[in-house]
Amino acid sequence: MTWTPDSWRSKPALQQPTYPDPHALETAEKEIANSPPLVFAGEARRLRKQLGQVANGEAFLLQGGDCAESFAEFHVDTIRDTFKVMLQMSVVLTYGAGLPVVKVGRMAGQFAKPRSSDFEVQGGISLPSYRGDIVNGITFDKETRVPDPQRLIKAYNQSALTLNLLRAFAQGGMANLEQVHKWNLEFIADTDEYSRYEELAQQLDETVAFMRAIGLTPETTRQLRETDFYTSHEALLPGYEQALVRNDSLTGDWYACSAHMLWIGDRTRQIDGAHVELLRGVENPIGLKCGPSMTRDDLLELMSILNPENEPGRLTLITRHGADHVQDFLPGLIETVEAAGASVVWSCDPMHGNTIVSSTGYKTRPYESVASEVQQFFDIHRSYGTHPGGVHFEMTGKNVTECTGGAMKLGDENLADRYHTHCDPRLNAGQALELAFDIADQLKVARV
Ligand code: PEP
Ligand code: CO
Repeated sequence: MTWTPDSWRSKPALQQPTYPDPHALETAEKEIANSPPLVFAGEARRLRKQLGQVANGEAFLLQGGDCAESFAEFHVDTIRDTFKVMLQMSVVLTYGAGLPVVKVGRMAGQFAKPRSSDFEVQGGISLPSYRGDIVNGITFDKETRVPDPQRLIKAYNQSALTLNLLRAFAQGGMANLEQVHKWNLEFIADTDEYSRYEELAQQLDETVAFMRAIGLTPETTRQLRETDFYTSHEALLPGYEQALVRNDSLTGDWYACSAHMLWIGDRTRQIDGAHVELLRGVENPIGLKCGPSMTRDDLLELMSILNPENEPGRLTLITRHGADHVQDFLPGLIETVEAAGASVVWSCDPMHGNTIVSSTGYKTRPYESVASEVQQFFDIHRSYGTHPGGVHFEMTGKNVTECTGGAMKLGDENLADRYHTHCDPRLNAGQALELAFDIADQLKVARV
């Protein structure tokens, strides 16, 4: 079947907003289609190549950022802090794994959210569910919840500004290795994680001094001065994505130019659905969320549709079963992939299967469940001899109180302090770094 950027339109698309004025939607999508792409096809190709190294066991993937970016939280400090903590995690992981770490933000476009129900009921009133700032507003009132196509344009512009800043950080000196390990994270200063981090920073200091002595300095060596930082989001709104699908003049291939990598959510991966149809035709690296309902047959079919040439780096399977269920489901998926001789990146999302409601009524995720799912992911892959290629976190560089536990020992009673997320609970900077240390230990064992 021939693919075109709009061939998805003849397929059912789940999780779509109902816009009151389809003409206004068309006008907004046209405006985006006439605007510049956010990323360049060559960058997506480079990421795909680097993910190919992950698939082959030669690199590790760190993907992370907000559950949902928002218009309200759009600020240079928010972007900078998430960028910083991801870089610090990546230093920790590089040390542990002895492998390059491919860094991909859930940033600069991660706005749209799938919801379990189309409507939300509060005090007997039923309104359309909040679907992310790119669709409607979070405030529970009638007007704000109406899907507004102008929000697509606002999200596009915010993505462009975010990406501009990320590029500046990645290439303008912020990623200088001589600086990265010196950033202090004040709010974890009294925790065990901080002493672990300081110890590593010390080793890094010695390494940097050694490299300097033999002539490798940030001035002479790009790798010490700059980094590659990529962007990604869930391709939930095919209309928005189509507006940014562009034909690459160098290769003649189609690329989704809203981000370097796009993934298909667990709720929109129907084999005959619009989301799979759209992403099968673009050459970007693609992620596929795999939850408990993913059958072996589904997986086989999806792999043949999304990666028919079986190219390493094209497809990342992001497994998200929950700490209590990963043993029940992950082995079957690994056996399926191995039996098919398929090349994939295996990445673990330990967030979406571990959401609970706290005793104080907040949606939360216990750090211990998150860490346990990651640990089991590593153990299971080790038992099969497959490469636990990466992790996918909902996290922020801010000191929020959304997930319980961890070195800071946040309890249910602390959640109200700084609960800022627009959707799911995120790891804060300290918890994210703590997890990076845990993973680095796992990777060290794997290396030995
Ligand atoms: C997400 O990553 O924010 C998400 C909704 O995940 P999933 O599709 O795995 O439920
Ligand atoms: Co989420």
